[in-house]
Amino acid sequence: MRLEGRTALVTGGASGIGAATCRRLAAEGATVAVTDVNAEGARAVAEEIGGRAYELDVRSTGSVRSAVEAAESDLAPLDILVNNAGYDEFGFFVNTEEDMWDRVLGVNLRGVIAVTHAVLPGMQDRRGGRIVNVASEAGRVGSPGSGVYSAAKAGVIGLTKAVAAESARYGVTCNAVAPGPIETPLLMAAPEALGELGERLVQGMVGKTVLRRLGQPDEVAAAIVFLASDDAAYVTGQSLGVSGGLAMI
Ligand SMILES: NC(=O)c1ccc[n+]([C@@H]2O[C@H](COP(=O)([O-])OP(=O)(O)OC[C@H]3O[C@@H](n4cnc5c(N)ncnc54)[C@H](O)[C@@H]3O)[C@@H](O)[C@H]2O)c1
Repeated sequence: MRLEGRTALVTGGASGIGAATCRRLAAEGATVAVTDVNAEGARAVAEEIGGRAYELDVRSTGSVRSAVEAAESDLAPLDILVNNAGYDEFGFFVNTEEDMWDRVLGVNLRGVIAVTHAVLPGMQDRRGGRIVNVASEAGRVGSPGSGVYSAAKAGVIGLTKAVAAESARYGVTCNAVAPGPIETPLLMAAPEALGELGERLVQGMVGKTVLRRLGQPDEVAAAIVFLASDDAAYVTGQSLGVSGGLAMI
């Protein structure tokens, strides 16, 4: 029960890594605001863990502000923020177009900026907090079929370091996890979108891991909860690969 008495907000908490993180945070004693653009999915996870669900679309600053305000007034000021919501459209970069760049950057990069901007001032005022961003190995080594997504995730890693440097004096840490291929609906959308080529992309990622397998959402959640806990008090500005050794940086 490392997180007894803490209040956490997770974006994209309805599915995959986000849902696994909500379960782990609750199991460690935290009160969890489960947020997602998929309000029904968020409600199901919140019900399961005794948390509270909020509809939150990271693309809309209005939606972000009202969900953060509601969670802080219903529960308590936030001690932990997990920026997990993510989205990709698989395809080779030369075949992408402007609207797709905006959609992918809007969720994966601008979304993290918007939610962090809404939560961080309160953490700084209260002189404490933990921010964990779900980046990707795509942001460190690049992922074929996910060029714009890779750019967004590299941006998240840059933001993580800047926020860590600016917030250290306020007792706020900011770290990222960089998952490799994790068995969730997001990754499994590649074979659905691209057929055999998508299957080859996923198998190619698995082949780059030294552990030679897909990861599970709970294996990423374990690393996120570590970074959100007091056990990681002396860790900030880092990107922790949770990727079966896909990258050793
Ligand atoms: N699965 C992988 O292989 C993998 C690898 C590296 C990084 N990641 C990252 O992990 C995070 C979680 O992804 P996942 O694999 O669990 O995928 P997932 O599709 O299972 O879950 C993503 C969640 O984000 C939510 N979401 C999407 N757009 C949103 C928006 N605009 N506002 C709020 N919520 C939104 C979805 O509704 C969904 O519940 C993402 O940031 C993703 O980029 C995943």
